[in-house]
Amino acid sequence: MKRVLSISLALVAAGLVVLSTTIANSGANSGANSGIKKEVTFNKDIAPILYKNCAECHRANDIAPMALMTYKEARPWARSIKERVLTRDMPPWSPDSKYGEFTNDHRLAKNDIETIVAWVDQGAKEGDAKDLQPVPEFTSTSGWRLGKPDAVFDIGKEFTVTPGMPDTIQNFIVPTNFKEDKWVTAAEILPGNRKVVHHVIAFIQTPEMIAQFQKGEGRARAMMQSNVFYREGTLTKVKADAPVIDDGCGDPNGGSAFKRPSASEGGDAFGLFLAGYAPGKGIDVFPAGTAKKVPAGSMLVFQMHYSSYGGKFEGQQGDRTRLGLHFTSKPPERSLNTVGIQNHYFKIPAGDGNHEVTACYTFDADVHLTSYMPHMHLRGKDMKYDVIYPDGRQETLLWVPNFSFNWQTMYYLKKPVALPKGTKLIVTAHFDNSEKNKYNPDPKKTIRWGDPTYEEMMIGWMEYYVDRPTTGDRPDAARATASRR
Ligand code: HEC
Repeated sequence: MKRVLSISLALVAAGLVVLSTTIANSGANSGANSGIKKEVTFNKDIAPILYKNCAECHRANDIAPMALMTYKEARPWARSIKERVLTRDMPPWSPDSKYGEFTNDHRLAKNDIETIVAWVDQGAKEGDAKDLQPVPEFTSTSGWRLGKPDAVFDIGKEFTVTPGMPDTIQNFIVPTNFKEDKWVTAAEILPGNRKVVHHVIAFIQTPEMIAQFQKGEGRARAMMQSNVFYREGTLTKVKADAPVIDDGCGDPNGGSAFKRPSASEGGDAFGLFLAGYAPGKGIDVFPAGTAKKVPAGSMLVFQMHYSSYGGKFEGQQGDRTRLGLHFTSKPPERSLNTVGIQNHYFKIPAGDGNHEVTACYTFDADVHLTSYMPHMHLRGKDMKYDVIYPDGRQETLLWVPNFSFNWQTMYYLKKPVALPKGTKLIVTAHFDNSEKNKYNPDPKKTIRWGDPTYEEMMIGWMEYYVDRPTTGDRPDAARATASRR
């Protein structure tokens, strides 16, 4: 009682009488005693927590519904902030902490949660203006968070999205004009317009891949010519009558419609995965001692997914997304590679609330995994990465029990995970195509693989390096000689 009373008094003093009942309520039924006795203010205690843990999404024109960078912006949300940090709903963090430790684990420290609770319980006070640190530079959505890149590329022209326009996948191909091989240690994608840029993947197309494509070979061409896929405008989808394989691990090719790459090859249909942007994903900063190689003469492919999904904007929206690359001058110890373990053949029945799909891949070299990124769309429910080692031992590497389309993140491992040659990776996903899934665009529809958010994907992305020095290891040469399965 005493606490409620003193809060009400504090509010009267602050001239916020109208809010006193709300705050008194939340104080009374919170059940959480913050244990923090000192006076907590926005300017001194809360702003630094929000800058560090919430700014990435809760800033103007980003994915969260509101900015939380100033007292004026945060004050109306005080009660909701308290609830969401107590339930650990915010900041969003999906992996189960039993498996793997990640450098970008941005769950709040217990002490930060207690500070926020105390702030709200004490009446969410602003405090002394002189205590307030300036909002950090990066909270501007147009600035490079990693600082000025060594090279910047953009998609080459302005792309316009109009309200209600169907989802669009656009590939923009941009020459690097690199005269020598470059080693990339970090890559930052800066969406030109976060309201419509749903995701971006930047691929490297090496001169060898370009030549293969021109000769009608290579995986991208195979994809376009196969009878599994069809094109609808700019979108690629799997045909309704394509073979159905939900258990990709029971399929010799692991569930993928592409020829599986060897470990030294990696990649996907469009080239080698360089960097990605998805809401809340974070920036690609490769682990110390590793880098991704962009051979001289390579092209960059910006695979842009534009979505007016949710119709959160009015009028035409222009985008000119940029990619900033940071180089190291000497070849790194390890060359970093990426593989997407995916199933193209699944079929999710209408209304099914828990449809299981698997995909498998066996590494043909000793590797170390450095990061994971599960990818699904709006019906994605959970995803698990398991391994079976050559000696039969099994282990779970990652378990994302509540996948959320809104915050797909790359999980950067604190310690790389060693996988000997012959280790089999099993990716298991579940989809919720029932009406209980509030994000489900249409529970009455049978769903197959497709680019748009209202169709589905199932990809377990991961980054790794092959356990041998990079000296003399040209990805192009390695690809040419790699033994195929
Ligand atoms: C990775 C992006 C991301 C980060 C980091 C993040 N949020 Fe959010 N937040 C969102 C999105 C997206 C939503 C809207 C969807 C939802 O409500 O789940 C949201 C919703 C919320 C809501 C509910 C708004 C409502 O409509 O009721 C609150 C409160 C909130 N966030 C507080 C915070 C706080 C406090 C932090 C930092 C401690 C934080 N968030 C960090 C993305 C983020």
